[in-house]
Amino acid sequence: MAVTSDPVRVMKQEVGLAAASRVKSDSIVGLGTGSTTAYAIEYIGDRLAKGELKNIVGIPTSFQAEVLAKKYSIPLTSLDAVDKIDIAIDGADEVDPQKNLIKGGGAAHTREKVVDTLAEQFIVVVDSGKLVDKLGSTFLLPVEVIPMAVTPVMRKLEKLGGKPELRMGIKKAGPVVTDQGNLVIDVKFEQIDNPAELEKTINNIPGVLENGLFVGVTDLVLIGEIKDGKPVVREM
Ligand code: A5P
Repeated sequence: MAVTSDPVRVMKQEVGLAAASRVKSDSIVGLGTGSTTAYAIEYIGDRLAKGELKNIVGIPTSFQAEVLAKKYSIPLTSLDAVDKIDIAIDGADEVDPQKNLIKGGGAAHTREKVVDTLAEQFIVVVDSGKLVDKLGSTFLLPVEVIPMAVTPVMRKLEKLGGKPELRMGIKKAGPVVTDQGNLVIDVKFEQIDNPAELEKTINNIPGVLENGLFVGVTDLVLIGEIKDGKPVVREM
């Protein structure tokens, strides 16, 4: 692991390590997406290589997770081959005091929701900058949409009080295309007062595949913080 002095990166490394250390031998592990979970995947690989962990199999939530798992020699399987997931580790873009989340900053929230909600224990790994009093205060809500339905879905999201924008690529001309070949609309809502209701309402719009609200599914949040100049991990 490269040594860094960037505090956000240090916090991500620490929570990644804390989450990886909770994985037990003989388990099926949901491997999340994003820069924080990437550290957890790396540390799971380290523990396997040292012989500290044995007989682990991962279920990736994205192409990124799959690439990282292969890099760190974590065997992979698919949901067709297992009847349960023991533990899933994943990041988040916002976490509220009820442990509800906004996810999808990496456009992977659809597969993440499938894997994370199937896990017996779902652990979220974040740095302290992700904590909010109310969802939607710092991050736009990602909505994955099939390409032919983008315009009508945007109109419906406006009717719900949102300000939708199609997510565009960086270092790629045109829109972001998800691992499923769909598009992502990011929506600004002034207030998300009832995340459970909004999650269902948006998913009920024809053409929407999944939105980034994760309500009532998190078991544990590991929060990386810097206290007195040192990284610590707090549980919520
Ligand atoms: C991927 O689509 C997201 O849900 C990520 O889990 C989320 O964006 C957190 O990513 P970072 O750990 O990179 O902030």
